[in-house]
Amino acid sequence: MSNRKYLIAGNWKMNKTACEGAELARQIVEAVGKQTSVAVCVCPTFTSLDAVSKALDGSNIVLGAQNMHPKASGAYTGEIAADMLRQFFVGYVILGHSERRQYFGETDAFVNEKVLATLANNMRPILCVGETLEEREAGKTIELVSAQVKEGLKGVKGEQAENVVVAYEPIWAIGTGKTATPAMAQEVHAAIRVVLKEVLGAAQAEKVRILYGGSMKPDNADALLAEPDIDGGLIGGAALDAKSFVSLVESAAKQG
Ligand code: PGA
Repeated sequence: MSNRKYLIAGNWKMNKTACEGAELARQIVEAVGKQTSVAVCVCPTFTSLDAVSKALDGSNIVLGAQNMHPKASGAYTGEIAADMLRQFFVGYVILGHSERRQYFGETDAFVNEKVLATLANNMRPILCVGETLEEREAGKTIELVSAQVKEGLKGVKGEQAENVVVAYEPIWAIGTGKTATPAMAQEVHAAIRVVLKEVLGAAQAEKVRILYGGSMKPDNADALLAEPDIDGGLIGGAALDAKSFVSLVESAAKQG
């Protein structure tokens, strides 16, 4: 077992109004807001940050955001800057999610700018990487994911490693109910760890948490989280319901 603390992060995507988000956050706080063995984070929409931040106040649950622009301010209509997130005590920022890459044309280079800006503003990037079904079937998974990690973390220094989170999310498993088997996920996580060693140095690479994402649910979490390089989960669908999200936190806590 590694000494990395598990991270269970909820990606609410484009779901929940501010009121609904605050209610969900309150339910999560009530169930697991005091525990310290697992790091827990919820990432609502921008318009819910204020209400959810208030609902999390005084708990150990950290607020996250789903995106951020790399520039500090300026003429970027529809975008959000680091300062604006920090004001609500955002600790983690999901970056380069496959939905952003696919629907909004985000490239590795742009995601890399965001990663560097997030770290420079004392927040933790959750860098998402993953392959399509076609790429997997063509045997390109490791090559592609390794390149995404390398490009995404360009310029990140070894001493920043403990603030870096990588999420491996096979695109074919997101929201589909199809999960990578624990062995399939572990194979890719181990390959990511090898890249992290090259980029950040061997000792520092051990500090980076690598999350699995893609239909992680209470009934498959135990087996996934038991793998040596799976250090938590980035959860979509199952994060929208307090009971299932809390059960994932409990799964991680059980791994000890
Ligand atoms: P899912 O989403 O758990 O609904 O598959 C995961 C994600 O996209 O982060």
